[in-house]
Amino acid sequence: KRLVVLVSGSGTNLQALLDEIAATGPERYGAEIVAVGADRDGIEGLARAERAGLPTFVCRVKDHATREEWDAALAEAVAAHEPDLVVSAGFMKIVGKEFLARFGGRFVNTHPALLPSFPGAHGVRDALAYGAKVTGCTVHFVDDGVDTGPIIAQGVVEIRDEDDESALHERIKEVERRLLVDVVGRLARHGYRIEGRKVVIQ
Ligand code: GRF
Repeated sequence: KRLVVLVSGSGTNLQALLDEIAATGPERYGAEIVAVGADRDGIEGLARAERAGLPTFVCRVKDHATREEWDAALAEAVAAHEPDLVVSAGFMKIVGKEFLARFGGRFVNTHPALLPSFPGAHGVRDALAYGAKVTGCTVHFVDDGVDTGPIIAQGVVEIRDEDDESALHERIKEVERRLLVDVVGRLARHGYRIEGRKVVIQ
């Protein structure tokens, strides 16, 4: 299976996928990353892709007259690599109708909180501020909401009294990277069905 991975930052989830595929081999893992895309230049996630010898593309909102045009351009850029599965690994933009029309049902996102709790761009900070005792991460299919699509898998992480946002986020990412690698591999190897809010991996 062909994966396109979308990033916006450090790309450690992307790196976890790259490392797993390199260690296991794309045949046994069931997938290979064919391209990495971003919404901005100059991020470590793109540098990681380049170091791995992968094609990259950048699709910036400000380069397009409207949000819809950006969304269509992003869909085109992704489609050019003919992915079977698109993975948002810290991609910090909400995609629109055109993108979902083409990739809905095969577009997976990882979120650093236990959805439906704490959706949006500050899930780690929100859980901490709320005084939650546990949080975690969620891998889910992307639908037309924000972090509302069918959940595939979740991992739990305890919140410690001494945590600040970055310490907690780092601890979440340790679980998140393993969860994402496991889920993407299973989806690629076994195929899956989405039945309402349920995801059945064959
Ligand atoms: C991940 O925790 C992701 O869930 C969140 O931002 C982080 C991205 O980390 N949206 P990285 O870029 O994969 O290191």
